Amino acid sequence: MAETIEPLGDWQRTHDCGSLGTNQVGTEVTLMGWVARRRDHGGVIFIDLRDRAGVTQVVFNPQRDPEAHRQAASLRSEFVVAIQGTVEARPEGMVNSRLSTGAIEVASHAMRLLNTSPPPPFPLEDGVEIGEESRLRYRYLDLRRERMQRNLRLRHRAYQVTRRTLDGLGFIEVETPVLTKSTPEGARDYLVPSRVHPGEFFALPQSPQTYKQLLMVAGLDRYFQIVKCFRDEDLRADRQPEFTQIDIEMSFVREREVMEVAETVLRSLFAELGQVTLPDPLPRLTYQEAMDRFGSDKPDLRFGLELRDVGAAARASEFKVFQAVLAEGGQVKGINVKGSGGVPRSQIDDLASFAQGLGAKGMGWMRHTGQGLESSIVKFFPAEAQSLLVQAMASEPGDLLLFVADQPAMVARVLGGLRLELARRHGLIEAGTWRPLWVTHFPLLEYDAEEQRYAAMHHPFTSPLEEDLDMLEADPGRVRARAYDLVLNGTEIAGGSIRIFQRPIQSRLFSLLSITPEQAAAKFGFLLDALEFGAPPHGGIAFGFDRLLAMLAGEDSIREVIAFPKTNKAVGLMESAPTPVDPLQLRELGIRLNS
Ligand code: AMO
Repeated sequence: MAETIEPLGDWQRTHDCGSLGTNQVGTEVTLMGWVARRRDHGGVIFIDLRDRAGVTQVVFNPQRDPEAHRQAASLRSEFVVAIQGTVEARPEGMVNSRLSTGAIEVASHAMRLLNTSPPPPFPLEDGVEIGEESRLRYRYLDLRRERMQRNLRLRHRAYQVTRRTLDGLGFIEVETPVLTKSTPEGARDYLVPSRVHPGEFFALPQSPQTYKQLLMVAGLDRYFQIVKCFRDEDLRADRQPEFTQIDIEMSFVREREVMEVAETVLRSLFAELGQVTLPDPLPRLTYQEAMDRFGSDKPDLRFGLELRDVGAAARASEFKVFQAVLAEGGQVKGINVKGSGGVPRSQIDDLASFAQGLGAKGMGWMRHTGQGLESSIVKFFPAEAQSLLVQAMASEPGDLLLFVADQPAMVARVLGGLRLELARRHGLIEAGTWRPLWVTHFPLLEYDAEEQRYAAMHHPFTSPLEEDLDMLEADPGRVRARAYDLVLNGTEIAGGSIRIFQRPIQSRLFSLLSITPEQAAAKFGFLLDALEFGAPPHGGIAFGFDRLLAMLAGEDSIREVIAFPKTNKAVGLMESAPTPVDPLQLRELGIRLNS
């Protein structure tokens, strides 16, 4: 049946679909929205009318208004309608306490059909599992769903809280360019060709890092921006090619002041959006402590399963595998899975293959039973080694002990990964717990074995720790950075540092990074020049806004808190981007494609 679409005419909305209650009984109202559901009940037609505020039940009674009733019969899901009617209390027993408008209904006496819709490709009710591809392709429908509306509202409120908090602390919001030059965050750039300068390209900023430092040279003192960053990198649930940061920079500060501001922002967001009071002060771990105890520089503190060094026990043992690793400067460490000594062998084997998947050569294990330690490797541990082991592992009868022997980085990787997996399998993570912490004293540099050179762990403008400056050339791998990360439940939600503000130190760092003065001048000359014009000491931090929101919203993926995200193949499914372009456009840009 072809429905007749009508204009809105002079109808004016009087209420939204979420606000009517028994106080308005008897009121004449005009509502507009989408048909969420239509039910025919022996002549009487009910529709659930939905807009962003909620759902209101509308009743079409053939006796009362035959014409509106006839029209209502042709309504389908997602048709857009305007309704005029009277608010009535629902009959006894029909009140829906789950709905804010559940005590009333609107008896319609006139309706205008404003638009139709084919059946939506998926149900728009919450709680229905829908393939993500479909959701992203029809994102405008997906966003009509309550869950997504809730997430976008949360995001909106987070912008306001952030702006209000930082404004209150004297920060000035400044926009920085999107068409710019490569910025140093270590990912690949998205490039934009210049038509005016054929063969030349802008880069989209991986972060406003250089600009915010320039704003400090410019005397802005306290800058912030809620800003898009672009990084061409491998994507995961918590990574998008374009994502949003709360970017902050401050002058005349040390780590402490930046961290205080970041904590204030975090606390305000959690208090106002999640009614959560975060611990005060936030705990701190150095990078080394975090790696030693949790095998990760973003440790999840919601559960124990800490890593324990059993080097002394391994040394006292006759177990060749462990001893060979120790002789090569490696470590033997373990995790005590409390009370799991009784798990079947198949589960232990499963954990061993998981460890191998992470790169371990093997995983040793022992059960601690009433009779002592048991496993095929116990025979290599004389009594003294066993008692050292039990002590180091704080082991008791009933426990399961897992061991990995390798170079420190691999031990951390495997046991760190195993720790998370064990927590997942044993359900050790309690929902609704928030365990933020600071991780500080990161190494300044990491050695890239493939390229045989050092790379900045954070970015090349991060200041070395003053007391480590002497080692810069002699032992660069040991130099620590004035860098700090904010970690929440195992996710890095913010990272920053105190910057190098004196040109000579910046030059030393570039030469360590095998960046020649010419390369440095070509890439960051403007910043280096600026540093010479009286740059103040400064430092800052940037929050991953999407990550923070996903956590606040209880979502696993940042895609759930971004209106129009890319897929994990970096594609905009709905708009179908990227796409090939007109050959004419390429010619104008002076670009010829290889294929
Ligand atoms: P960094 O690179 O650590 O620091 O980024 C800051 C925070 O941004 C988030 N993040 C991401 N979120 C989603 N998708 C991505 N691809 C992605 N990459 C990073 C993380 C991270 O903690 N200029 C420095 C900050 C500074 O030194 O002040 C910077 O960008 O939550």
